[in-house]
Amino acid sequence: MHPGSCGRVPRVRWGTPSEPVQAEPALSHTIVIFGASGDLTQRKLVPSLFNLYRKGRLPEETRIIGFARRPYDDQSFREIMRTAVKKFSGSSFDEALWDSFAPMLHYVQGDLERFESYPHLEQTLRRLEGGPSNRLYYLATAPALYIPVVTHLGAAGMAGQHEGWRNIVIEKPFGHDLASAQALNHAVHSVFQESQVYRIDHYLGKETAQNILFFRFANTIFEPVWNRQYVCNVQITVAECVDVGHRAAFYDATGVLRDMFQNHLLQLLTLVAMEPPASFNADALRNEKVKVLSAVRPIELRDTVRAQYEGYRNTPGVAPDSQTPTYAALKLYIDNWRWQGVPFYLRSGKALAQKTSEIAIQFQCPPHVMFDLPPGKEFTPNILSLCIQPNEGIHLKFETKVPDSAQETISRDLEFHYRTGFGEQAIPDAYERLLLDALRGDASLFARYDEIEAAWQLIDPILHGWESPDAPPLVTYPVGSWGPPEADALLARDGNVWHLSCGGGCED
Ligand code: BG6
Repeated sequence: MHPGSCGRVPRVRWGTPSEPVQAEPALSHTIVIFGASGDLTQRKLVPSLFNLYRKGRLPEETRIIGFARRPYDDQSFREIMRTAVKKFSGSSFDEALWDSFAPMLHYVQGDLERFESYPHLEQTLRRLEGGPSNRLYYLATAPALYIPVVTHLGAAGMAGQHEGWRNIVIEKPFGHDLASAQALNHAVHSVFQESQVYRIDHYLGKETAQNILFFRFANTIFEPVWNRQYVCNVQITVAECVDVGHRAAFYDATGVLRDMFQNHLLQLLTLVAMEPPASFNADALRNEKVKVLSAVRPIELRDTVRAQYEGYRNTPGVAPDSQTPTYAALKLYIDNWRWQGVPFYLRSGKALAQKTSEIAIQFQCPPHVMFDLPPGKEFTPNILSLCIQPNEGIHLKFETKVPDSAQETISRDLEFHYRTGFGEQAIPDAYERLLLDALRGDASLFARYDEIEAAWQLIDPILHGWESPDAPPLVTYPVGSWGPPEADALLARDGNVWHLSCGGGCED
């Protein structure tokens, strides 16, 4: 490093999504969607694949095989997908483009639970592939089918990698608790090596979630204050306007801790709290994430709030005496050098006032106030808000002097918005990035088995505790509110309040 070089060091290079697929470029690619007649395929998977195709990012020879029980054929499957892509791929639909994309789609009918369907699937794949080909198996099925599908793939010899790689993508929920997650990991590992496994958490595919690491580690000025000496508390809010709607039966057996905390909120926590990895690769990143999760102190029941929105129990599919929380708030501590003593507050719920996902980092107040503040007036602390969605951006709240006053101050936000910075359409759907990464063999944005288990290790005791006599009461909150007052009291105990600065809405 030369004096005056401002500390510049040679750049470490890593891949970008626009790079061509690196792995074995000579081989074609086959994506097999298990459970292809479901919602996810129509809403997310095929529209994202279509967008990747439109952007020229799909490997040249790629085929997409839908595999499910319904009696479709190639033609009817393509028709259904055409309607879906038109509806869900944003403003990017184009008939001519669709006509060139559609021949990539094929359909194989089969009962995913029966072994006999798999040799038939294998035969069809071989016929379409006409030689060695890389394969991405995508489990878009009900979670109860994960183990049967994986086991049948193994028994049918479809996981071996002698004729191209075989990777498997597994959707959330990954387990229902620690024991079931371990059992699933065990079943998966008895057929696939960990390096073949891609566990999806779509929050990791969100541009703004990825940007947390870039914000922290591609800049100099934030990381020095990113610790207990300067940070007073960290707040993660993932609020939704939607209620449980048509997913009531699933939701009532799941609840907000399993649906949102074990995965999305804890993933955001790891990105905010992890140490800088030495390089931007899957192992280095995931090692740091596991370290953070392992350092979280067991969460005390008194630091948890559980609530249900009013009217939830009247939803068809919900038990009339349901104890399932649709909202939760937690306080946790990370017992390591960087974060000792800093409370992290996490909250998420359905049927709230706004849809907004944001992370607020509240900094300590200045140590000495030399200004002559009016009685009772304090500075508003600096707050850095990472706006994950829907108003993607970053806000920094700071104190400023009111013009033409002697010493009056007021807080204002410095704001950066993706929409104005990069254009309305700049943010792709999370699935585009995740599908592309799975095809490129980059697992950085997927959860490793130990990460999943570490997350369940934190959530399991709360789930059990909430069924014990020591459980906090299950309280209710009005639809369209910001949750129950108990969640405010959780912070008030520490002299804190929830912060929201990104703005949201209720259009989904
Ligand atoms: C899913 C949950 O994982 O995430 C849903 O199962 C939730 O209940 C959804 O609505 C939220 O995702 P997003 O991207 O809209 O914040």
